[in-house]
Amino acid sequence: MNRITIVGTGYVGLTTGSCLASLGHQVICVDNDEVKIRMLQSCLIPIFEEGLELLVERGISSGKLTFSTDLISSVEQAEFIFLCLPTPPNNDGTADLTVLYDVLDRLKGKFASGSIVINKSTVPVHSAGVVAQILAQEVAVVSNPEFLREGSAVHDFLNPDRILIGCDDLSAGRRVADLYSSFNCPILFTDPLSAESVKYLANAFLAMKISFVNQSALFCHSVGSNVLEVMRGLSFDPRIGSMFLNPGPGWGGSCFPKDTRALTGMALASGEPMSLVTETIAANERHIQRSAQLIIDAAQNSENSDVRVAVLGLSFKADTDDTRESPALRILQIIQDVFNDVVAYDPHAKVQNRVVNHRVNTMDEALHGADVLAILTEWDEFRGLDPVHAQSLMRGNVIVDLRYLLNKELFCNKGFSVLAFGN
Ligand code: UDX
Repeated sequence: MNRITIVGTGYVGLTTGSCLASLGHQVICVDNDEVKIRMLQSCLIPIFEEGLELLVERGISSGKLTFSTDLISSVEQAEFIFLCLPTPPNNDGTADLTVLYDVLDRLKGKFASGSIVINKSTVPVHSAGVVAQILAQEVAVVSNPEFLREGSAVHDFLNPDRILIGCDDLSAGRRVADLYSSFNCPILFTDPLSAESVKYLANAFLAMKISFVNQSALFCHSVGSNVLEVMRGLSFDPRIGSMFLNPGPGWGGSCFPKDTRALTGMALASGEPMSLVTETIAANERHIQRSAQLIIDAAQNSENSDVRVAVLGLSFKADTDDTRESPALRILQIIQDVFNDVVAYDPHAKVQNRVVNHRVNTMDEALHGADVLAILTEWDEFRGLDPVHAQSLMRGNVIVDLRYLLNKELFCNKGFSVLAFGN
């Protein structure tokens, strides 16, 4: 059992803290947001994340997990201090490290002797060195990037494919590795610069992979092949792999857009611009616009002048309430600018009311009287849509399925026209 303090209780911090508590460590999660901390103390989870509530509940009742707004006293007692702070993008795409620097300034001179500071948030290459410099070698600094995905964050934390430890001081690195000793996965020790680079390059590679798939969908569309069949054909090559081959409306979320922009900025500054990543960002932007245009064209072709468009999905992917940089939300906003009557439904997405003109509470309400239905997020609930039921509710018969969820044949047999790139 180790004493651990997690600074920053967002997606990464809360998941890290509650998972480490579930492994038997004594954990304090600290945040400067008093409302959030009070909620968590009463076991109210501010985000929608499978399995998190149960872990927090167990952590609190076992006494292994506590929440606090008192940064200094939480850190003074800790052997391990995880920094899980937000690093939002500046206007030029570089990471804004204000919060990180502010926290470090306040913590200078407060660490217990022998404690270790661990950077978990995605921070620019060289940050571990900068942190060590700010702390004037008071503690060891280790870079331990997190690879969890929203929506399966708890599962990903507890079943990692690798643990990456970037350190100059190997004995500190080994102590951090010991925190994860119950996991059955490779633990890779490397230098801090390489650990920090892995995180950016992994996310850029994945974003590039999805953009490749989305561009392939356009290619398949133009030559008349089927992108789903083509991706299945690619997926059996182990060098390509079967994951992350789903075409969609474009990628988004709190990581890919931010990290690809930061990476291109760092690459440019280093004198080695990464043109592939720059083009990936541009291709994704074009894909989001093309996706919106597909829906607009379908709606403009409707025989009804008072056309109604129904949108299913607002979050950036399924199983999360997160709408940060969500392609679904972007597309909705474009459509709302063109048509007066656009209704949207999402089972969990957290979004300000003023952004969505007309949000309804059920899928049926959204479908009711719709001429065109657009599916933008791959929630399971949408997958289960029945063509006869859809027909009984909708006025029109056009579905733009940008997540390729529906069985096209079943819907076409009922007189629907199901549109998607390359399908
Ligand atoms: C990502 C990385 O996967 C994770 O390792 C890192 O720690 C944080 O960033 P996340 O942002 O939660 O995780 O989402 P992810 O599941 O990777 O999806 C990102 C975007 O790509 C979503 O918009 C998703 O819909 C899209 N996507 C993903 C596709 O369009 N097709 C796919 O096949 C996979």
